[in-house]
Amino acid sequence: MRMRAAVLEEFGQPLKVQEIELEEPRAGEVLVRLAACGVCHTDLYTASGADPSGYAPTVLGHEGAGVVEKVGEGVADLAVGDHVVTLFSPQCRECIHCLDPRTNLCLAIRTEQNLGHLPDGSTRLRRDGEGIRHFMGCSTFAEYTVMPEIALAKIDPAAPFEHACLFACGLSTGLGAAINTAAVEPGTTCVVFGAGMVGLGAVAGCRLQGAERIICVDLSAERLELARGQGATETMIGGEDTVERILEATGGFGADYTFEATGLVGVMGQAVEAARMAWGLCTVAGVAGRGETLDVVPRLLITGRRIAGSSFGGVKGRDQVPVLVERYLAGEIDVEPFLSHRLRLDDVNRGFELMEAQDGIRSVIEFA
Ligand SMILES: NC(=O)c1ccc[n+]([C@@H]2O[C@H](COP(=O)([O-])OP(=O)(O)OC[C@H]3O[C@@H](n4cnc5c(N)ncnc54)[C@H](O)[C@@H]3O)[C@@H](O)[C@H]2O)c1
Ligand SMILES: [Zn+2]
Ligand SMILES: [Zn+2]
Repeated sequence: MRMRAAVLEEFGQPLKVQEIELEEPRAGEVLVRLAACGVCHTDLYTASGADPSGYAPTVLGHEGAGVVEKVGEGVADLAVGDHVVTLFSPQCRECIHCLDPRTNLCLAIRTEQNLGHLPDGSTRLRRDGEGIRHFMGCSTFAEYTVMPEIALAKIDPAAPFEHACLFACGLSTGLGAAINTAAVEPGTTCVVFGAGMVGLGAVAGCRLQGAERIICVDLSAERLELARGQGATETMIGGEDTVERILEATGGFGADYTFEATGLVGVMGQAVEAARMAWGLCTVAGVAGRGETLDVVPRLLITGRRIAGSSFGGVKGRDQVPVLVERYLAGEIDVEPFLSHRLRLDDVNRGFELMEAQDGIRSVIEFA
């Protein structure tokens, strides 16, 4: 079929919206008509050329929500008309990691996905007979996409797509960092560094887990206001002395749980130091720049602090994204404040500009 899609032709250049070909879903694959898609830093990171593993041409986008239009042979869990959220982090339910409750890092299609291929090693996207690669296994800056069944979460059709799509990446990452990775306990003190989509999700996750104090740190007073709305009990403008101020606010000890959601290694260091001695757990969700390293004084670890990394919040997507969406529908998670701008596919580059200007939390592309 022919469809419109935003193609990254060359790194550092604006995406070009154009008609390209999408082939039929093969065995285990599903055709999805996109209804909404968030614009995320990872899309921009690849578009800019900064990502060493990036490739072009490709159709960017990975925060999609839409409707199943057609299923390939052997697809058992999805049917035409189902509402789905796309998963850059799939869940095959069979690999050694999927079978283990400790991780969400499914091994089934990693290699091909990293190459921009569907699991059988080929692409469904084409232009003039040439294959175009699938970004993060999703390519959702497009009217339609073909994805493996294991990379789609079936959600309650009552959820509006413009909100549901945010669960495809940053929001679930933040929520999951608190709920799964840290498994925050009730009555505890948490510090969240960064109040973007991921940090705000972490604040909401800490609240849902019953934390007593949630201190959010950011450079923007406006974003800290949003953090209050998600359940932060205290806020701080970040700086050189953030750790001292957190220690002061916690009787000299630091927090039971800290979360890093900025992607800055300096802030990751602060998040480690702000974790309490004896049992403080620092969860790192931010993605650092290429080649950067995290500098930690080992004494901090000997005296009981721990560091954990969290990819997609440890969320096993097919099982847990639908549950998070249910919690949102039940009124436990306030998603509307994250949706800052509604755009058309033709304005996708505007989404990048708004992100670079830190204007709002998320721009969402809506399809007719
Ligand atoms: N682990 C995952 O699976 C995953 C998924 C999505 C995004 N991410 C990463 O998470 C990070 C956050 O993503 P986002 O969409 O929320 O980004 P964002 O840019 O919207 O938010 C980052 C926030 O950090 C704040 N900040 C900057 N310097 C600070 C400082 N010194 N102290 C405190 N706050 C400071 C900024 O003001 C901003 O509000 C990024 O690195 C992103 O790549 C990770
Ligand atoms: Zn994303
Ligand atoms: Zn798996």
